[in-house]
Amino acid sequence: MKTKFSEMRTIKELLNNPVVGSHVAVQGWVRTRRDSGSLSFVEISDGSCLANLQVVAEESLANYDEDVKSLTTGCAVKVVGELVASPAKGQAVELKADQLQVIGLADADSYPLQKKRHSLEFLRTISHLRSRTNALGAVTRVRSTLNFGIHQFFQENGFFQVQTPVITTSDCEGAGEMFTVTALEPDQLKKDGAFADDFFHKRAGLTVSGQLQAEIFALSHSRVYTFGPTFRAENSNTSRHLAEFWMLEPEMAFCDLQCNMQLAEAMIKDLVGRVLEECAPDLDLFNKFISKGLLNRLETIKNKPFVHLSYTDAVKELEKADKQFEFPVKWGIDLQAEHERYLCEEVAGVPVIVTNYPKTIKPFYMRLDDGEETVAAMDILVPGIGELVGGSQREERYDLLKARMEEAGLDLEEYGWYLDLRRYGTVPHSGFGLGFERLVQLITGMQNIRDVIPFPRTPGNAPC
Ligand code: 4AD
Ligand code: MG
Repeated sequence: MKTKFSEMRTIKELLNNPVVGSHVAVQGWVRTRRDSGSLSFVEISDGSCLANLQVVAEESLANYDEDVKSLTTGCAVKVVGELVASPAKGQAVELKADQLQVIGLADADSYPLQKKRHSLEFLRTISHLRSRTNALGAVTRVRSTLNFGIHQFFQENGFFQVQTPVITTSDCEGAGEMFTVTALEPDQLKKDGAFADDFFHKRAGLTVSGQLQAEIFALSHSRVYTFGPTFRAENSNTSRHLAEFWMLEPEMAFCDLQCNMQLAEAMIKDLVGRVLEECAPDLDLFNKFISKGLLNRLETIKNKPFVHLSYTDAVKELEKADKQFEFPVKWGIDLQAEHERYLCEEVAGVPVIVTNYPKTIKPFYMRLDDGEETVAAMDILVPGIGELVGGSQREERYDLLKARMEEAGLDLEEYGWYLDLRRYGTVPHSGFGLGFERLVQLITGMQNIRDVIPFPRTPGNAPC
């Protein structure tokens, strides 16, 4: 029973465009089998959509007793047959099997995914099997749709994708969260100045952000974006932090903070709209079983303008809040997730863009505001999560940038290339970073970031 690629159909294709009376071949994994008189109903899934295809296998099949009756959850099968109108409720068509071939058995006694619902915590312990469940299967599809949607949005708006390096010697955020990349043995690393003998002749690490390199290309191609894995050795065991996450970073020349915020808001609305359209059954599942009210919240994000608040006004809102925060609020503090969530969940009811943060809590590259206390930063805060986006207008004035780099203790020679961008044809430019997993959380309503990335890396956890 060999099938050519061009003749293979996914269950999604068959169900979206069912041709009653057509002969088709389908391959997938058994979800359930139910026997009724001289028939067996076998639900199969191939992961292409949330719905299963119901196969009707009659006892007249040559291998009915031997194979069909031995099918259990998780077995892989190929079925050839005729699509017929289904008399049952909940499905338009079913597949009447002419042939059913068992491709791979799954031992019913040891297969961990049984018909009942499993907790997300349990599923995290079987990352090699969890994508076969409804919820994690839906996350996989939404994540892929969002990923493609990001490329579509930027390509449609004249942006070029730039691949920035995974191994780098610049620590963009300056927060000391870089994982070191070394070819030295642990005992060689103990020596003073050891990195001079290392592979790159200086200390290198895994990127915490592709921004600085993206700026190079923004200043030659005007509109660019980089989208790839990003690494931070921050010891935060929270439901919104990963040591390895994906970050989308657009960077735009001739663009100030206002323009940057407009781009970010338009992009988020566009992506929410795409997923509402393309992943409706998956979002229904999340709305019912994972996060009640999700669809309403997504419609709000898509349709209502985001609220803008300066950092100073945000602090005033928090100070007058009738609520005890774990971290006390005063001008100058970095906002914590509890503050961020309060602002968008209880004050605004929509995503909030907080701007013009104190310069002391933001990195060296952000443009100094008049008054020199704050910088042209913007964070987008969303319900249920807090910070989704962090961005800014970049300091394009050579002297001011140099002074801020000196203040931050950066080696000006090492970052000479970054300063050069301000010596030769400097222009106002801006960009932002969006945590891709946080976006998937926002759109699926999944509480824990470990459930929206296939292989979460967190402190103490990198099993395969
Ligand atoms: O605010 P961050 O640190 O900004 C930057 O790195 C800038 N260089 C971006 C730029 O302007 N091009 O990170 C951006 C976003 C955060 O808002 C958050 O959504 C996500 O990245 N993020 C994380 N997501 C998961 N786990 C972590 N440990 C994260 N750290 C940041
Ligand atoms: Mg940030």
